[in-house]
Amino acid sequence: MNDLSSVMMEPGIVADQSRSLWALVTEHSTYALGVTKEGLVINLHWGPRLATLADLPDPCLALTHSSHDPALTSIAEEYPGFGGLRYGELAAQVVFADGVRDLDLCYERAELLPVKASLSGLTLYLRDRHYPLTLLLRYQLDLANDLIIRSAVWRNEGDEPIRLERAFSAAWHLPHSFASRTLTTLAGQWAGESQIQRRPLVAGTALIESRRGITSLNAAPWLAIESEPMPGQLAPEVYFASLAWSGNWMIRVNYDVTGKTTVVGGISEHDFAWQLAAGETFTTPDFVAGFADDGLNGARQRLHRYVRETVLPTSQALQPRPVLYNSWEATTFDVSEQGQIELAELAARLGVELFVVDDGWFMRRVSDTTGLGDWRPDPRKFPRGLGPLIERVHDLGMAFGLWVEPEMVNPDSELYRAHPDWAYAFPTRARSEARNQLVLNLGREDVRNYLFEALNRLLTEYSIAYLKWDMNRPISEPGWADYLAQGGEARELWVRHTHGVYALMDALRAHHPSLSIESCASGGGRADLAILRRTDQVWTSDNTHPEARLLIQEGFSLALPARVMGAWVTDAGRRQVPLAFRFHVAMLGALGVGGNLIHWSAEEMDEAASWIAIYKQIRHLVQDGEQSWLLSPHATHGQFAAVQYTSQARDQALVFFFWRDQVFGGSHPPLRLCHLKPNAVYRIEPLRALPTASPLQEYPAVLSGAALMATGLPPLLDNWQTHASYLVKLTEITVPPGGSVRTENKPRAESLPVVY
Ligand code: GLA
Repeated sequence: MNDLSSVMMEPGIVADQSRSLWALVTEHSTYALGVTKEGLVINLHWGPRLATLADLPDPCLALTHSSHDPALTSIAEEYPGFGGLRYGELAAQVVFADGVRDLDLCYERAELLPVKASLSGLTLYLRDRHYPLTLLLRYQLDLANDLIIRSAVWRNEGDEPIRLERAFSAAWHLPHSFASRTLTTLAGQWAGESQIQRRPLVAGTALIESRRGITSLNAAPWLAIESEPMPGQLAPEVYFASLAWSGNWMIRVNYDVTGKTTVVGGISEHDFAWQLAAGETFTTPDFVAGFADDGLNGARQRLHRYVRETVLPTSQALQPRPVLYNSWEATTFDVSEQGQIELAELAARLGVELFVVDDGWFMRRVSDTTGLGDWRPDPRKFPRGLGPLIERVHDLGMAFGLWVEPEMVNPDSELYRAHPDWAYAFPTRARSEARNQLVLNLGREDVRNYLFEALNRLLTEYSIAYLKWDMNRPISEPGWADYLAQGGEARELWVRHTHGVYALMDALRAHHPSLSIESCASGGGRADLAILRRTDQVWTSDNTHPEARLLIQEGFSLALPARVMGAWVTDAGRRQVPLAFRFHVAMLGALGVGGNLIHWSAEEMDEAASWIAIYKQIRHLVQDGEQSWLLSPHATHGQFAAVQYTSQARDQALVFFFWRDQVFGGSHPPLRLCHLKPNAVYRIEPLRALPTASPLQEYPAVLSGAALMATGLPPLLDNWQTHASYLVKLTEITVPPGGSVRTENKPRAESLPVVY
């Protein structure tokens, strides 16, 4: 052991040049990699934090078990490409100009990047042994959140083109182990996003993907792998990953009978090719992965902090998300100046801060068959333009927002009649319409310019604070005749479309720095770490029924934080579900209202206004607190849900509890909380009245953190009502000498003993 090897490793990147290895150390984890004498870059460890470099093995090739189990397959290569005796999961496949399809990369050098904010970085340079092709493996560390952010850059240093047929972002290797592991993914459909799927890892490959040109409603580019807790461990260790890409993607999880678990992923190889011309580079999206020693909630909280601190656009990331009203469910396409003003006046009475006019405001948009592409107010609905409506909204004290769907065109539109060639199509095939619309080719500069001008004109002419940016159908017939004719590779269009969307959003934000954007694709179809670099909020689902929402929101929250999770109280469930329950569900995220307020009674309006006032007081905890799901609606078949939000200082917390059915009546068990300070004393305060006859009336309203975590919050609901829910706030209070405190909300008792 040399001197360097015995030095305790602090968070950051620790290099041992003599052994060609690096340790990427975060607060709670170590990710180590090294170079074998053959020049292969391999993983040496990923998991609990190690103390010194001496803890790491030397980087060397594994033994060949048999001629059918070659070392190149069993070794944990950081970026295995198709070539040689590699039969495991692959990150890349290339074709050289002479037709050779075998990749043989060798390590050249490493570069440590200066620490920026809480991120530090390492880049490894690899080069093909024969061809002028360089690959950069980039690693960034989020020290506090135990995350490694990886991407790859391909560089053609020669004179002839090289064709990329698979160019994933990274390969991740979990520790070799026979421990039983559970894979969690998110799957869905329209109006049913983010359903949690859990399955044991067995030998073979699990595949999740999108081939629709967007992130997709049907699967999310996120996963977690949990190992059963080892003896002495309380929570399972979790490896989790999330891909920052809003187009076609693919993630493959392979487990083999030797106990090897590999995850690879990136831009999908489906209908993908990229012609890397001489001197050009191709950069993959970021693939973010982390290790949590405190279970799925720990994984969730790490990703939430990362999104809030690093991903979201800085202009809005520190502001509270406003309470919005959206007119879609109230008016659908039946939009008029007067009708919207009426809704705005009612919304303002509730305390709404942002009024958003949804679909139906632009040229000849009376149904979903016309108008997409013609982004000007319809003079029949807005004879004086949008100005008077916006002025009224401002007078009512609200900001104004507007719905757009820039990537789309209806064949029945001025835009399509002028530029039929701007939509994706193959010349000999029909253009499949979905929702009566076609997709514009955002890989084309002229299309992007048109859209920039149309949207920029709107944003310049009118005072618009917020765009709801929708995308309501997948891409089909992905033809691009002009590009092909110019010698281009038409299969690049999937990637060029996504880059085009990013470029358009980036340009609009650069011109309108205070603009906020909501990402929508028929609900949560475009919710990922890359779209959130340029949007501030996501429309989580078109399904606003509170029962469905609890399930959808639990899944969504595994990958993304509450401040981006748009949640409205609408008329869905209005007849069966109490308004309090509906508000509690929507208050779990960025609260909005979407019901037809014209039909709401005076009592409903008053109650809604009081919930919105409460939300404004507690939203800092919801939007920026640590979120823990204490009871999973997925695990309890939608019967229960409980969510806790805790301040960073752990001196305040909120607990939301939901109980859908009570077929057997009776009570429910105490709810054990987490994340509190064991020795602190918390005042427990129901926000707004609890449902009838709550046992809280009989219970001390003061408990220690230790008691709340060990024995739990007592059962607060005890009745036969369906859809019962509550929201309580915990606030740390100072205990006077003698260990007893006065309760403020218990006039009957003089003082109550502190329960430790
Ligand atoms: C999509 C969105 C809805 C609404 C409609 C308008 O379905 O998800 O919220 O904006 O489009 O057409």
